[in-house]
Amino acid sequence: NLPARVRIHEVGARDGLQNEKTTVPTEVKAEFVRRLADAGLTTIEATSFVHPKWVPQLADAEQLFPLIADLRGVHLPVLVPNERGLDRALSLSATRVAVFASATESFAKANLNRTVDEALAMFEPVLARAKAEGVHVRGYLSMCFGDPWEGEVPVPQVVRVCKALLDMGCDELSLGDTIGVATPGHVTALLTALEEAGIPAAAVGVHFHDTYGQALANTYAALEHGVTTIDASAGGLGGCPYAKSATGNLATEDLVWMLQGLGIDTGVDLGRLVATSAWMAGQLGRPSPSRTVRALSHK
Ligand code: HMG
Ligand code: MG
Repeated sequence: NLPARVRIHEVGARDGLQNEKTTVPTEVKAEFVRRLADAGLTTIEATSFVHPKWVPQLADAEQLFPLIADLRGVHLPVLVPNERGLDRALSLSATRVAVFASATESFAKANLNRTVDEALAMFEPVLARAKAEGVHVRGYLSMCFGDPWEGEVPVPQVVRVCKALLDMGCDELSLGDTIGVATPGHVTALLTALEEAGIPAAAVGVHFHDTYGQALANTYAALEHGVTTIDASAGGLGGCPYAKSATGNLATEDLVWMLQGLGIDTGVDLGRLVATSAWMAGQLGRPSPSRTVRALSHK
């Protein structure tokens, strides 16, 4: 009952690098994105047009985006929290953006300085303008499973914000396990509740952080439920600067290894991807946390 093909939404250059202590030079980021494209990834989240004080690691978005905008056959979505961010993205001719909501009040405050509903109100004009410009909009929803301040997050609370994001025009959702506490049963329960609320698996992607080592098991549960868009980060880079207990995302290599074994097509060349993450680990001065990168790269 598994899909024949999966689209990987690569977040290493954004979710990964936003959380690194070292600020990676712009040219290195551009090289990273190019190498990811060369490895066969076709959706590569490039950067964020957020306040540079909030995420200094991505303060070079204006410099980076033009260096990669010529990549053919690759979508380069960027995060925009508000109209100011959308203006910045549109001025560089970005064609895909993502807004990012929270299922919990604590994280909405920490990440966006807003309540959940104030953040949704901030996104509404972003969606209206993006739609008018023919720009594709992804709606992230953080803390779908657990929250570091509030504990387990009730499923109906998550469903409500998912519906609000789709109602305002988001083309797809990404369900974030920001701190990596989800387990497969919880994933199935949320996807079932969404379906019962009229939100099919085709409309959602999943975004697992691997804090408790559950990301692959959670992905398998989502695949069984019909989800075909999986977020992952090359080399397992990542975290979130505004959620203390968040560690890296599911590593793209670990995901590709599992999908290859299941006979599911991703279009990714695993050897090239591993070489890219090994190279990036060298740039960051620390080994990749991905098991697959470690197993396949030569010392
Ligand atoms: P605020 O302080 O409430 O902003 O922050 P404001 O609206 O009051 O504006 C204050 C100043 O910021 C103004 O400048 C604005 O122009 C400026 P001033 O008039 O004082 O000179 N400003 C901006 N500058 C540049 N770009 C902008 C922008 N917006 C306002 N876009 C704000 C509100 C949303 C801006 C802030 O909270 C912010 O930037 N937050 C971003 C946080 C972030 O990027 N977090 C990480 C991404 S989310 C994530 O990682 C989770 C995810 O991976 C999924 C998962 O794992 O769950 C997606
Ligand atoms: Mg994330």
